[in-house]
Amino acid sequence: MRDLLLRACRRQSVERTPIWLMRQAGRSLPEYRALRERTAFVTLCRTPELAAQVTLQPVERLGVDAAILFSDILVPAECLGLRVDFNPGPVVETPLRTTAEIARLHARPAEEAVPFVFETVRIVRRALDGGVPLIGFAGAPFTLCAYLVEGRGSRGFSAFKTLLYGDPAAAHRLLDVVTTVTLDYLEAQVRAGAQAVQLFDTWAGLLDRGTFREFALRYARRVLERLAGSGVPRIYFALNGAHLLEDIGDCGADAVGVDWRVDIREASRRLGGRFALQGNLDPAQLLAPPALIEQRAVELLVRGRELPGHVFNLGHGVLPETPVEHVQSLVEAVKRHGAR
Ligand code: CP3
Repeated sequence: MRDLLLRACRRQSVERTPIWLMRQAGRSLPEYRALRERTAFVTLCRTPELAAQVTLQPVERLGVDAAILFSDILVPAECLGLRVDFNPGPVVETPLRTTAEIARLHARPAEEAVPFVFETVRIVRRALDGGVPLIGFAGAPFTLCAYLVEGRGSRGFSAFKTLLYGDPAAAHRLLDVVTTVTLDYLEAQVRAGAQAVQLFDTWAGLLDRGTFREFALRYARRVLERLAGSGVPRIYFALNGAHLLEDIGDCGADAVGVDWRVDIREASRRLGGRFALQGNLDPAQLLAPPALIEQRAVELLVRGRELPGHVFNLGHGVLPETPVEHVQSLVEAVKRHGAR
């Protein structure tokens, strides 16, 4: 197996810095856009053969060192019986707003509620056949709850914050149920064959340090610590989390993703030097000409050599308008200059 990613996450020695990209599958790839012309996004997520095909597209086209399961963070909401639509981001049909709605929630086993996810994992593993590892993922409990309460992406998530600050007991009850679902969902991905997992805490950056610890970190840590026994590397990524790095040091993961707003060496210091780091090129750098992309890649690789482990990635997802040739030139540059 080409296990550079797994070794880098575990801070073991690697011949070369591995690279994969958040949102490496998706609209920057012509073959994804072609499929999307005919098929709705939810259908792609729910049809194992198609989701597997899309998962593999960037491995074939870009030569990245890992595949990431193609799905969406709102898929496990189905374990709570909640219906989600996409337009283009996730929209929860009836957002959870009252204590009574939260008290009534009942979690079904993920393998029963969303079996198509685990079938996708099995198909991808067979197709990869000992090649690059497959990363499974879930939204962190805080971020998933943000969507369940707000109903959709939002600038400040004021409905969600109304619940957090106005009725913390109900918020904790919701976070608790969602943590159970998230853990079950990731454990089932690992049983099906996922070889690493990433927890995306996309909205954690909305919080100050104290509320981050109370409502986000606590639940993310519970998921990550309970996955320790599964033997797969665990990555925690909080977007916009530079002010939270000292706290993120308690997340219980093997590796921490950082966005581009912070120098990756400073991030490592503030995390106590205890983690492999993943990141952190600004996704918009990929809009520049390939020669400049190569320069930026080399600079980041040099910084990465000072870390206990470095997984090259963007600081957030590939922008849909990125020319695929630019993404390819980034991957080539990291392979050419990434010796360690
Ligand atoms: O990274 C990958 O290549 C794997 C697939 C993946 C998708 N969504 C596919 C997707 C992953 C890991 C996600 C996670 C996800 N989804 C997150 C966490 C990571 C992050 O970006 O912070 C979040 C917040 C979502 C919610 C979401 N899904 C939004 C806001 C949107 C719309 C905006 C956008 O970028 O399109 C989606 C839709 C979505 N998820 C698409 C893809 C490829 C585009 C769907 C389409 O084809 O129209």
